[in-house]
Amino acid sequence: MQPAVTVWAPGRVNLIGEHTDYSGGRVLPAAIQLGITVEGRSQDGVVNLFSTAFGAGESFQPDGGGSPIGGWARFGQAVAAELHQLGRPPIGLTASISSTLPSGVGLSSSAALEVGIALALCEVASFSVDPLTLASVCQRAESSGVGVPCGILDQAACLLGEEDAAILLDCGSLEHRLVPIPRGVSFLVLDSGVERTLETTGYATRRAELEHGLALLGVERATKLSVTDLGPLDSLSRRRVRHVITENERVLQFAAALADGDLAVAGRLMSESHASLRGDYEVSTPELDMLAAIAEDSGAYGARLVGGGFGGAVLALVDTKTSVEIGRAIMRAYPNSDRDAIVIRPAGGAWTG
Ligand code: GLA
Repeated sequence: MQPAVTVWAPGRVNLIGEHTDYSGGRVLPAAIQLGITVEGRSQDGVVNLFSTAFGAGESFQPDGGGSPIGGWARFGQAVAAELHQLGRPPIGLTASISSTLPSGVGLSSSAALEVGIALALCEVASFSVDPLTLASVCQRAESSGVGVPCGILDQAACLLGEEDAAILLDCGSLEHRLVPIPRGVSFLVLDSGVERTLETTGYATRRAELEHGLALLGVERATKLSVTDLGPLDSLSRRRVRHVITENERVLQFAAALADGDLAVAGRLMSESHASLRGDYEVSTPELDMLAAIAEDSGAYGARLVGGGFGGAVLALVDTKTSVEIGRAIMRAYPNSDRDAIVIRPAGGAWTG
């Protein structure tokens, strides 16, 4: 039997703008060619989710009610509860979920799962939600249901992606525009072999430390500040806020460098981003530092940890024509992972068919 609904939801890489989204800052992500597929049909009174990729099947009520479930399907239950708040009719769904996206690497498998299930739930109930509202629904689901107080970066990238382009998004106003990726430019995702989930890392602590620093300065958004405003802060707050101020600036400079085709400048900005995430925001690990250094020694224009940090992957900027060769050289020189480098292609966002 043909599925009544098919949804594609891609993962994402964030080219630059890390740990800036939850204080209304700037990010520059792209959706990628890897993602999850949800195939299903409507079902009376229950949501049944199956997946060979993620684990055993789970069921919950169409409004997200019932006893809280664990494991991967709790993302679905949390999304159903948030959509119910928006007025989605409580129509059930039976769906199977497959994935080409490695998890724990920093490519946002959880956001892809949330968006994929959300779009399937909307489709079976003929309930339509605009992309940025849906991104907020999924972001809230991750916070309320799963306990990670994330920003909107991952979910927005999954929904707004376009082929061969990154999305310059202001997470405060939600204004966004596409930044074309020049021909001949590729990005490598290099797995550090240190798996992490944001629930069990210092992600929430970093967010609280940043918000404490911003509150001491009397602002909510670091985009309103410059590094000369940090005098009144203690050393830890100063470093957290300084990362976000400088990273917000780097996002604009990186978008301009891409538009000019100046890969040397773009690469330098990626290296500066990594140094700031390591020194000021303290979300790197020795493995990520080593991998970024190996990438630069192997011919990448620049490299930086990607996503929340504390493990996961490094993103490197390379020429397309040498991307496979450089990727192999890096992973050969890096002792901690036997995964191959992934050459990323900026791809279209989520769709329902
Ligand atoms: C994770 C979160 C995002 C963002 C990044 C860091 O991917 O889900 O919202 O905060 O970390 O930039």
